[in-house]
Amino acid sequence: MAHIQEIGPELWTVKHPFSMAGLRLGTTTTVVRHEEELMVISPGPFKETQWKEVEALGRVSLLVAPNKMHHLFLSDAQDRYPEARTLVAPGLLEKRPDLKGAVELPQSLIEWGLQQRLLGGLPDLKETVFWHSPSRTLICTDLVFNFSSHPHFATRCFLCLNGANGSFGPTRVLKHLFLKDRELLAADLEEIVKWPIENIVLGHGDNVIGDGRAKMESAFGWLTRAR
Ligand SMILES: [Fe+2]
Repeated sequence: MAHIQEIGPELWTVKHPFSMAGLRLGTTTTVVRHEEELMVISPGPFKETQWKEVEALGRVSLLVAPNKMHHLFLSDAQDRYPEARTLVAPGLLEKRPDLKGAVELPQSLIEWGLQQRLLGGLPDLKETVFWHSPSRTLICTDLVFNFSSHPHFATRCFLCLNGANGSFGPTRVLKHLFLKDRELLAADLEEIVKWPIENIVLGHGDNVIGDGRAKMESAFGWLTRAR
């Protein structure tokens, strides 16, 4: 079982095995700490031992669904932490009206050491990416994948078709299905790469440790250089 990984000061990830439609893409939860409070971004299918590891870091007080896709395990986290506030992507509450007490993400969570940007041009995703200044880490969810060659045959075939086997960057699904306005996304990415990004954590695949800004610039050159 995957354990919690410290990425830098006050930031951790938990990698969960997770399959959908037979594809073993896994999913990642990111944990941010401020003083003794914890923000849990994209709660995944936690095992009890993993929750215990998180709880050893502080008190879970904020649950976050950073886009309209990563909400499947949010109710479980709400049940475990009924005192925690829940913040969700714009439009998610129409899809998940059952999420108790959830409100849309505010425009600033600066007190957590985070800057953020709601990505334009992706109306069916509505992903907010965060930059965590203490760890100089960009927190993405579905904006980019980062898989080395996948050991599972069907998943590897899917990733190859999706332009995401053995490389870092946006998938073909994101570029050709989710992306509706290239100008809007390009404008946001030009702002994002101004942050001094060292590391990148993401929903599917391996964390990037070091050289994050250059990786983002390279992965989105097809979009930003076209402007
Ligand atoms: Fe995802």
